[in-house]
Amino acid sequence: MSAEMENKISADSAPSEENNVVSVDETVPKTNGEKDWTISREDRGDRPFTFGQRYLTSEDDVWNHNAWDHVEWGEEQRVEAEEKLAKQREMPVKPFDKSLFMGNPAKYWDQFYRNNQANFFKDRKWLRVEFPALYEAQKPDAGPISILEVGCGAGNTMFPVLQNNENPHLSIMGVDYSRQAVKIVRESEHFDSKYARAEVWDLAEPTGALPEGVEPHSVDIIVMIFVFSALAPEQWTQAVSNLKKLLKPNGRILFRDYGRYDLTQLRFKAGRLLDDNFYIRGDGTRVYFFTEEELHEIFGTEFEVIKVATDRRLMVNRQRKLKMYRIWLQAEFKNSKVEESK
Ligand SMILES: C[S@@+](CC[C@H](N)C(=O)[O-])C[C@H]1O[C@@H](n2cnc3c(N)ncnc32)[C@H](O)[C@@H]1O
Repeated sequence: MSAEMENKISADSAPSEENNVVSVDETVPKTNGEKDWTISREDRGDRPFTFGQRYLTSEDDVWNHNAWDHVEWGEEQRVEAEEKLAKQREMPVKPFDKSLFMGNPAKYWDQFYRNNQANFFKDRKWLRVEFPALYEAQKPDAGPISILEVGCGAGNTMFPVLQNNENPHLSIMGVDYSRQAVKIVRESEHFDSKYARAEVWDLAEPTGALPEGVEPHSVDIIVMIFVFSALAPEQWTQAVSNLKKLLKPNGRILFRDYGRYDLTQLRFKAGRLLDDNFYIRGDGTRVYFFTEEELHEIFGTEFEVIKVATDRRLMVNRQRKLKMYRIWLQAEFKNSKVEESK
């Protein structure tokens, strides 16, 4: 599969609109250690945000629709996935190439946006359904609310928010460490400078400096959609500390990203593994695949974990009789631990 195709699959990661029904606000209990995959998701207390509601109850029906939600994995499938990961570990990225990719990761995203402009990711219209806080922020009488989208890319999350906004006091800022991405956002016909700004900023900024013009503890909602996975694991602590510095007390982080054993992880061939569960794509961009437990550990140090859930979807190519198992994580964190704020 070409790098472009692989990216097309990775990018096609929004819950399909038709599958979003109602919003459910449930807190997922913390889980420790490995999951028992033979127990159903309800019994594990693994409740979704909203996600889709099309359940596959009989294997005979599998080719009748393009996608199925909450598809359970059996132990056999998990073992198969682990075997694929073990094979990848036998042939990691060569040390010379690794230092090349780790040196200036923004360069590869710049190249990505030069090649694809704004035409790659789909508009993420489902966000309002999955994250009610965003919906509330857009209401006419919501009052002053500031939203920061980190890793805004070409604006596929930011612009649907702006387009639906009825709140005269809403401000939304997109930041990305790719200058090319920020340029695309600023030049977009959807960019309304009355409500929106875009700046270059690195989520893992080592000095702790905030984006230009942003005061410490001034942001109500941070949105991070498929951006945290682009960080190297050694950058997570700095990134979380930067996020903490941005958020107001009780401010929230809305998160969606790749989950462990996602199709795109299992498809990586030899010479792509940078570190455990961390890969370099054909176009030089990096991607990590998280577990729920890891998100609890990474964000739980500074934030209250409101919920973390797994979106498991079976996508079906009916013509080619292909089954593709997609796994994404979705989470919400709150800046409740304000007394520890730096
Ligand atoms: C997969 S794209 C997602 C774009 C956008 N969030 C969306 O939903 O369409 C990941 C984006 O994160 C940006 N990114 C990756 N690492 C970053 C970092 N350390 N700081 C800021 N942006 C980063 C990339 O430049 C890219 O635009």
